[in-house]
Amino acid sequence: MIKSKLPDVGISVFTTISKLANDTGSLNLAQGFPNFSVDKNLVNLIKEVSQKDVHQYCPMQGNEMLRFEIKKLIKQTYNRSLETENVLITAGATQGIFTCIQALVKEKEEVVILDPSYDCYETPVLLSGAKSIRIPLDKNYNPDWDLISDSINEKTRMLIINNPHNPSGKIWKEDDFANLVTLLKKHPNLLVLSDEVYEFITYEKNHLSIHSYPFLHERCISVSSFGKTLHITGWKIGYLIAPKHLMNEIVKVHQYLVFCVNSLSQHVLLEFLPSFNAKKIKALYQQKKDLFLSNLKNSRFQILPCEGSYFQSVSYKEISHEKDTEFVRDLIIKHKVAAIPFSVFNKDEKDNKTIRFCFAKDDQTLIKASKILCEI
Ligand SMILES: Cc1ncc(COP(=O)(O)O)c(C=O)c1O
Repeated sequence: MIKSKLPDVGISVFTTISKLANDTGSLNLAQGFPNFSVDKNLVNLIKEVSQKDVHQYCPMQGNEMLRFEIKKLIKQTYNRSLETENVLITAGATQGIFTCIQALVKEKEEVVILDPSYDCYETPVLLSGAKSIRIPLDKNYNPDWDLISDSINEKTRMLIINNPHNPSGKIWKEDDFANLVTLLKKHPNLLVLSDEVYEFITYEKNHLSIHSYPFLHERCISVSSFGKTLHITGWKIGYLIAPKHLMNEIVKVHQYLVFCVNSLSQHVLLEFLPSFNAKKIKALYQQKKDLFLSNLKNSRFQILPCEGSYFQSVSYKEISHEKDTEFVRDLIIKHKVAAIPFSVFNKDEKDNKTIRFCFAKDDQTLIKASKILCEI
């Protein structure tokens, strides 16, 4: 028998719950993927671009012109000026995160992760021989700066942040960035990995990014996902932005992990990006959120704030005292609606009787699901 390098890592909750949802014919509001059509222009571009000479390896760091389009997008969105050498095309945000951690975190160093946290952060930390330090967000899912500050020492290499936040949908405030700047000034060896895959999906408040804070640029890496932004999660393509001194290390890992990312997707996105309209994405998800919430208003679920992402979290305290994992199991098996329990995002499986619904679904699915939820 082989001794596992990752004895405590199992199959992710998203895979397990999606399988249960499929097996039971449930409406899947669990895993974060849209079930509506992608932009017709993207589909047409696949046909058109695939006729061209685009089927061989791309440059290792990504198609130069696509990186130029991303540089333009960052300038337009955040008014940050970049060089194309600051951009790396990745096989989704997941590969970007894995690559950064492998490249930048050494054995015995520490990485601070804020719980509840998305599940792809810890495994690359463990594979680096480093230690993950899981620090809870406060009860409203905002960073607790005293706790974070207390957790950082001379061994801490990286702080991973996620904004807009999965699962809570919280977005960072100006104050949070002021605290982050103070922290980085105090700890000159600390780096920040900022997972911003839901950056274009925000509602009343605008997304604030590390890109908007020049002091952070030399110490932070951001990861983005075309999968999330353009609802093409199966394409597994995204990008990361890093300062040159960190990018030099990151590409050393990238070249032996994937060498380069799928060439057809890169060429299609290169053609598509000039017409990218962030307002359209916002409007699409605002309509879905409004529809879902208006249909849920007579339910016994307590609706929690959702400032960004396409996740609506709810408390079921008024309905049941069951543990959230059991509540979700019953929801799927008895009521045929799948959700994700919050406790699986916490190291200590802390259960606040809170679950997450993904509303990136067609209107019919949202209406059907909310009707069932109102009867519980
Ligand atoms: C917070 C967060 N980060 C990263 C990812 C992964 O993104 P990608 O599919 O581009 O790898 C997800 C996917 O659900 C996510 O929610």
